[in-house]
Amino acid sequence: MTIPVSHEADILSALKAHGMELPDSLCHQGNCLSCIGQLLAGDVNQATSSFYPAHNGPVATKFILLCRAFPCSDCTIKTYLLN
Ligand code: FES
Repeated sequence: MTIPVSHEADILSALKAHGMELPDSLCHQGNCLSCIGQLLAGDVNQATSSFYPAHNGPVATKFILLCRAFPCSDCTIKTYLLN
């Protein structure tokens, strides 16, 4: 599924606006890890995330918090859908 996300929008909010049900809590601050996903391709800015502020290592190991991740390019992300 391809969903357009502006560079100013966090990925979690954009996916939810498109009707996707994803695990999250009310924190939206990068603290609870509920919205974790895996970045398979592309790059995101998650400098405001408490847990994953910077990426190092191969793409396959990049975990991101969708509530604090802002796309820097087209991205492929594995999420944990509720339905
Ligand atoms: S909703 Fe808590 S870390 Fe994203």
